[in-house]
Amino acid sequence: MIGLIVARSKNNVIGKDGKIPWKIKGEQKQFKDLTLNNTVIMGRRTYEEIGHPLPNRKNIVISRTMNYQDNNLITVDSLEKALQLVEGNAYIIGGYNLFKEIIPIVDIMYITEIKKVVEDGDVFFPEFNEEDFTIQETEENEYYKRLVYTRLAPKK
Ligand SMILES: NC(=O)c1ccc[n+]([C@@H]2O[C@H](COP(=O)([O-])OP(=O)(O)OC[C@H]3O[C@@H](n4cnc5c(N)ncnc54)[C@H](OP(=O)(O)O)[C@@H]3O)[C@@H](O)[C@H]2O)c1
Repeated sequence: MIGLIVARSKNNVIGKDGKIPWKIKGEQKQFKDLTLNNTVIMGRRTYEEIGHPLPNRKNIVISRTMNYQDNNLITVDSLEKALQLVEGNAYIIGGYNLFKEIIPIVDIMYITEIKKVVEDGDVFFPEFNEEDFTIQETEENEYYKRLVYTRLAPKK
């Protein structure tokens, strides 16, 4: 199973100045629940922002310039190689390029829509065809809405 987890603003921003431009208490609980004991795959900049491997998960960083290695941490130079090393479910956790590469083959996308417009964002979630997915709303509060996009079986 290949999944993707992202939080995006109303205007589709996911990053600004190398960081996620909001802090909402409890918002990352779903991320932890989904990824624990599975594999997270991320771009080099996303890894550097987090600053360390996420515990109790296999961490795969994709980079052509750096080679981070540690307990539960490996670096490879393509998404294809990363997908061959997955243990459990694979969750792509950013950024832009990896989301764009995985959307055509992703099984499920956990998209949290942050109820905020972010000015001057510099990384966005890629455009995709919503008609390829069924959409289920799983949670809503004053700060965000959670949507689960499950890929429809390919039409015969
Ligand atoms: N809101 C959210 O849910 C969310 C999630 C994740 C990240 N973010 C934000 O997004 C921003 C970072 O995302 P980003 O798109 O700028 O960077 P990124 O995807 O995290 O990292 C980009 C780097 O990853 C490597 N890379 C990506 N695709 C590759 C491929 N196919 N083959 C080989 N290497 C590849 C390259 O590293 P090298 O240059 O080393 O070759 C590339 O420069 C930050 O602001 C972060 O906070 C937000």
